[in-house]
Amino acid sequence: MVKAVVLGAAGGIGQPLALLLKANPLVTELGLFDIVNTPGVAADLSHISTPAKVEGYLPADDGLKKTLTGAEIVVIPAGVPRKPGMTRDDLFKINAGIVKDLATGIATTAPKAFVLVISNPVNSTVPIVAEVFKKHGVYDPKRLFGVTTLDVVRASTFVSEILGDLSLSKDVVVPVVGGHSGVTIVPLVSQSSHPLPASLATADYDALIKRIQFGGDEVVKAKNGGGSATLSMAFAGAEFAAKVIRAVKGEKGITAPTFVSLSSDPAGAAVLNKELGQELEFFSSTVELGAEGVVKIHPLGTITDAEKALVKAAIPELETNIKTGITYVAEAY
Ligand code: NAD
Ligand code: LMR
Repeated sequence: MVKAVVLGAAGGIGQPLALLLKANPLVTELGLFDIVNTPGVAADLSHISTPAKVEGYLPADDGLKKTLTGAEIVVIPAGVPRKPGMTRDDLFKINAGIVKDLATGIATTAPKAFVLVISNPVNSTVPIVAEVFKKHGVYDPKRLFGVTTLDVVRASTFVSEILGDLSLSKDVVVPVVGGHSGVTIVPLVSQSSHPLPASLATADYDALIKRIQFGGDEVVKAKNGGGSATLSMAFAGAEFAAKVIRAVKGEKGITAPTFVSLSSDPAGAAVLNKELGQELEFFSSTVELGAEGVVKIHPLGTITDAEKALVKAAIPELETNIKTGITYVAEAY
């Protein structure tokens, strides 16, 4: 029995994500919350012939509390998306408040739930959730994840394109570490399960890295004011949620890159911080998942000089983003 909840379930990501969770046979209850349209989305999904019982709530009549009661996995895609010309940080002003309020609801109603944060800027919204949980005395860093899976999905797709065979993309595994915005997105292509051709020109390698780092901009530009990635994000979010659910159900050895607090695995963090050359509070690295959440944060391992330079370039922005989230909550209470 697994109750999954989507907060922001009527949105561009929320609806297809709710559909994919409804299609997951391990989900037995699906709670949908948004400030608009959730009764309709829930009614629609409830006709699909899969096990999950679906309920949709609006804020009235304690809707958030009703949605979250009994939740084991809470996925948060609530918040505004980018328009052309905006950075993810430009979303902070609005999304910080939305995420803080939703985190307060989770902390008071489902404090043991695994929380998967999609709302941007992820590098700051994840620390916001952590700080809110601390304020309520219920913080367990092993249960909080920033969803960076879309970067991993993009890396698999773009590497497969270079290899000339998109059918490989479901098998191509490329760790993407750091955070989730621009230069904080660090693809470790040298560790790809399917190596790039040795003959790949430096310019083509650079273009690949840039495309993975700025893939979000590509979609924002193409949607031309209509928002950012929704369908690919729903796919990625459902993939990551499915891994968490399988781990919670007892499956061993499941790993995924995800943005976590380094306090969730002090031993792993010690090795990682040494590799990074400094201590960070949050970082996305490959993480082993288990029934209680984070089991082990993997080190970066052997990386090339070019990748070392990418890691170095990511750190200042990551530090600033993390601090922005922490300060926001400190000033809000
Ligand atoms: P959207 O505008 O289509 O949907 C957002 C939904 O959130 C809307 O239905 C809105 O009503 C709802 N919402 C707003 N305030 C709420 C609140 N207080 N409680 C509950 N619901 C609320 O946007 P979208 O395209 O679905 O994107 C959502 C967020 O996800 C954005 O911040 C976007 O930047 C982010 N995103 C992250 C990634 C990632 O890789 N982590 C990828 C794509 C998008
Ligand atoms: C993405 O990577 O597609 C998302 O973070 C949305 C965005 O703003 O680019």
